[in-house]
Amino acid sequence: MKDIYILGVESSCDETSLSIVKNGCEEIKTVVLSQIDIHKQYGGVVPEIASRYHVQNITLILEELFLDININISDINAIAVTYGPGLNGCLLVGVEFAKVLSYILEKPLIGVNHIAGHIYAGGLDGKITYPAIALVISGGHTDLVYLKKAFSFEIIGSTLDDAVGECYDKVAKILGLEYPGGPLLDKLSLLGEDNYKLPIPLNDDSYNFSFSGLKSAVLNLVHNQKQRGNDVNKENLACSFQNVVITSLLSKTKKAINDFGVNTLIIAGGVSANTGIRKVFTDYTKNDKINLVIPKINHCTDNAAMIASAGYYQYLKNDFSDYTLNANPNLKLKKEDE
Ligand code: KG4
Ligand code: ZN
Repeated sequence: MKDIYILGVESSCDETSLSIVKNGCEEIKTVVLSQIDIHKQYGGVVPEIASRYHVQNITLILEELFLDININISDINAIAVTYGPGLNGCLLVGVEFAKVLSYILEKPLIGVNHIAGHIYAGGLDGKITYPAIALVISGGHTDLVYLKKAFSFEIIGSTLDDAVGECYDKVAKILGLEYPGGPLLDKLSLLGEDNYKLPIPLNDDSYNFSFSGLKSAVLNLVHNQKQRGNDVNKENLACSFQNVVITSLLSKTKKAINDFGVNTLIIAGGVSANTGIRKVFTDYTKNDKINLVIPKINHCTDNAAMIASAGYYQYLKNDFSDYTLNANPNLKLKKEDE
């Protein structure tokens, strides 16, 4: 079969990224321009500022993308772009950019769901087989997804309140860490001991999660200690927090894997970069002989390679978009037959 090259475009939040992926799994080149240093000073992403930087950066990285590779822009078979979920203004920049490229190059346009992109990031570094369960853990999502077959997504559980990445960032803020605190809290937890007692959230039989109570428990603990004139040990609190998060994610995921009788677990989204989560899930899947598909660190957080990878499977199904494609900040994953 002829090789298929997909150009991926990602701009849903604060990373502007372009990538070329061959046959859905072979990454030719990816450029990611992060705006973290700009948004740090505000303690979070400012949507209007993020959109403006996407406009400024996207054409610059297009030039960089084709430097030092043996592929011409005319070799590209299709343009795949994130059109949701995400920040409206940010998504619009990527969508309009992709439409222009598609029109000029006379190549098809493929609208990709950002979460499907995270799930298919695993395909860049491992082999996805079906049926599978995907645990999606990012700044905006915490979902358990059942994939009966390729590109058929059934959400079987979700967070009832905060996403796990959001909880990491909020707890990090309580501990005085910079935005985004998730990676810093992860590092801190490796230096501590699990000796603060925190409640395991939504410890029930459902596939759902809840993280806002855990965040409040950390906040109350810090306040109580302060009132008593005690310092909290940040390393130990980070370690205890991370262990509770892992316990919750692991128990719900194990239940889904057993109930649905699947043999492949995909872990996806920015929080899958977490050291503790990677270790515990690697141990569990090794023991239970489950095929763990987890992206390499650079494919965990937002990047366009994952969008190009997901776009490839849509290309194979002739799932193309026309120029009415628009940003959809609340786009949901779908089961194929819907
Ligand atoms: O997937 P992502 O790049 O953006 C969204 O689509 O949301 O995820 C970003 C989230 C942030 O909340 C960030 O703090 C969290 O992923 N994150 C981590 C780690 N690396 C990134 N959380 C915990 N441990 C990490 N090592
Ligand atoms: Zn993401």
